[in-house]
Amino acid sequence: MPVTVMGIDFPNPLGLAAGFDKHATAFPAFAAMGFGCIELGTVTPKPQPGNPRPRLFRLTEDEAIINRMGFNSVGLEQFTANITTTSSTVPVGVNLGKNFDTPLDEAVVDYLTGLNAVYRFADYIAINVSSPNTPGLRELQSRQSLDSLLSQLKRRHKELSEQHGTYVPLTLKIAPDLNDGELEQIVDLVMRYHIDAVIATNTTLQRPQSLRSPMAAESGGLSGQPLKSLSTALIARLFRHLNGEVPIIGVGGIASADDAWEKLIAGADLIQLYTSIIFRGPAVIGEILLGLERRLHQMQVSSFTEAVQRARGTSL
Ligand SMILES: Cc1cc2nc3c(=O)[nH]c(=O)nc-3n(C[C@H](O)[C@H](O)[C@H](O)COP(=O)(O)O)c2cc1C
Repeated sequence: MPVTVMGIDFPNPLGLAAGFDKHATAFPAFAAMGFGCIELGTVTPKPQPGNPRPRLFRLTEDEAIINRMGFNSVGLEQFTANITTTSSTVPVGVNLGKNFDTPLDEAVVDYLTGLNAVYRFADYIAINVSSPNTPGLRELQSRQSLDSLLSQLKRRHKELSEQHGTYVPLTLKIAPDLNDGELEQIVDLVMRYHIDAVIATNTTLQRPQSLRSPMAAESGGLSGQPLKSLSTALIARLFRHLNGEVPIIGVGGIASADDAWEKLIAGADLIQLYTSIIFRGPAVIGEILLGLERRLHQMQVSSFTEAVQRARGTSL
């Protein structure tokens, strides 16, 4: 199911979400498991340990995870050394964050440092302003902060693309916990600064009433099944606002071909997952891809993009 998004050719639309291969040490193995893309990171400029343990909790009854890893990272120097010693058979994104001890009003410096360091290694770059585990990080999604951040990043991005003679798409990863006003402001800026895609969504700070696990009271970001509908609803809102003009990478609670299809119909062009591999193992990758292929076959269309567009047309 090859698909071209942001000018990048992906062998299939299913990617590994950020946070699994944080240090760029395992991506060839994930590619071999069938993913069509791997998003590495989040990487911070300097190495940092992240939050004290325990910081990751399985909500088994809910097929969910709460994590407050807090960007444990080997730092850019080691990260880029790891990337250069390994080659990938599928496109690789790099997700950038800021160090814990960098003040919020200097966060742009960390993102610029990241952008400079990874530009030549990445097929796309993700600006992560949506992790709930770095104090204040999500405030970077507000109009004034995001305007300043994106304008500076785009200026540097333009210089880098000229210097390197290649355009590496720049994407923004957002939270599921945004009201309409907040989302509209983000969309305005995404359009104004020609951001190449929006990754929706990161983990949620909400705790749906349906949660049954005793771990549900832990602080951190919730992912997996209870995030699924929240994330899909945000993708649908985002798709309406973006008018189909900017691609969406849909992530949150995908564990089956039906889940993936829901995200695609809601407006996603590519999809990613994380938590379902923890509960179901790597077999989930093949199951999802096979299920999507079956749909294409049933619809008697030759391309993945055509299938999604046709399904969106009839489901609207
Ligand atoms: C343990 C863990 C660590 C994560 N670390 C990151 C991270 O470093 N950067 C990031 O952008 N997202 C991170 N995420 C969020 C995922 O990339 C994804 O957006 C989220 O988990 C929703 O997808 P899922 O329900 O398929 O897991 C992490 C998620 C988990 C469970």
